Amino acid sequence: MSTAVVTGAAGFIGSTLAEHLLSDGWTVVGVDALTAYYSRELKRRNLARLRTAGMAFHELDLTSANLAPIVAQADVVFHLAGQPGVRASWGDEFEAYARDNILATNRLLTAVASRPVPPRVVYASSSSVYGDALRYPTGEDVLPQPISPYGVSKLAGEHLVGAYAAEHGVQATSFRFFTVYGPRQRPDMAFHRFLTAALQGDEIRINGDGAQVRDFTYVDDIVDALVLAADAAGPLPAVMNLAGGTEATVSEVLQIVASVTGAPLRIRHVARPKGDVLRTTGDSALARTALGWAPATALAEGIERQWHALRDQEATPVL
Ligand code: NAD
Ligand code: UGA
Repeated sequence: MSTAVVTGAAGFIGSTLAEHLLSDGWTVVGVDALTAYYSRELKRRNLARLRTAGMAFHELDLTSANLAPIVAQADVVFHLAGQPGVRASWGDEFEAYARDNILATNRLLTAVASRPVPPRVVYASSSSVYGDALRYPTGEDVLPQPISPYGVSKLAGEHLVGAYAAEHGVQATSFRFFTVYGPRQRPDMAFHRFLTAALQGDEIRINGDGAQVRDFTYVDDIVDALVLAADAAGPLPAVMNLAGGTEATVSEVLQIVASVTGAPLRIRHVARPKGDVLRTTGDSALARTALGWAPATALAEGIERQWHALRDQEATPVL
């Protein structure tokens, strides 16, 4: 049986990955600091299910804890911990992005590299590294030019991973996730906000004119790629896009939300926030070739699943 360390195991993508690995028979060691970026109760709820399913959990901060014992037995380290959120990363807020995305990644890589034979590292990077991309669909060869401090911090993490791969023999891959959605999505993200507003009859705020495009990616499709990377026999490309192949504008998403929820939507447009790119459309051909990966979830189907999960969650009080 293989052992995986999942950092960010209490979060949206990390908890979904950990659950999948446990059901596949992996030994899973979860790590998370339960940062206050959003409700710790939601994170604890994610963890409760995982602990019941057999995950060992360490509540620790990657920027200060002794990490060598944590990675000592790992065959693969999935590094999903981080400070997310594109639009909130300006000004003084950047301190958290620098700490949790750059310093934390460096400390984790240092611990991994101290092993005589380092485990494979799979790093959660972001489509935000491209900024307003120079080409669509955007391949990994397009020069990253982030337009948000968040994107800068994720790109720095990628480069750290690359440096440890080059100089310390760490087998590592960075995946650039394109706007991930599905059950347990972070409360600051668009679909969570739109569906919650529909459920509670609240106003929906659209940033800008609603014409911005995202290549939305369902969380189970992301998890499939992460597991394929862990199972791969040889070295993998240093960087791979994971894009859902479901581009839609925010306004188109709201039409799907209206049809899935059956709720009348109250919409207000607010100014476009700085750092919010106009379009993401990823080319995932490299992941298809290297891993045999292809996203399988249509946008309306994924939104429907997120809607059902949200309603079930609303019906269950947070412990
Ligand atoms: P999330 O906030 O739900 O999960 C991240 C977790 O990391 C949180 O539970 C947080 O408590 C933990 N964490 C933060 N700093 C830590 C530290 N110093 N030590 C230990 N734990 C720490 O976010 P998510 O949406 O699940 O994103 C997971 C990863 O994927 C992040 O690195 C994010 O940048 C990246 N990503 C996400 C998306 C997306 O659409 N959700 C897209 C691209 C990239
Ligand atoms: C998402 C994640 O939040 C980032 O962590 C991640 O790195 C990034 O994807 C990525 O792909 O790299 P984002 O695309 O901004 O970032 O995802 P959402 O928060 O779901 O927003 C999607 C679009 O909806 C954005 O244009 C946003 O401005 C808009 N939006 C969001 C609204 O109009 N109203 C809202 O209430 C929320």
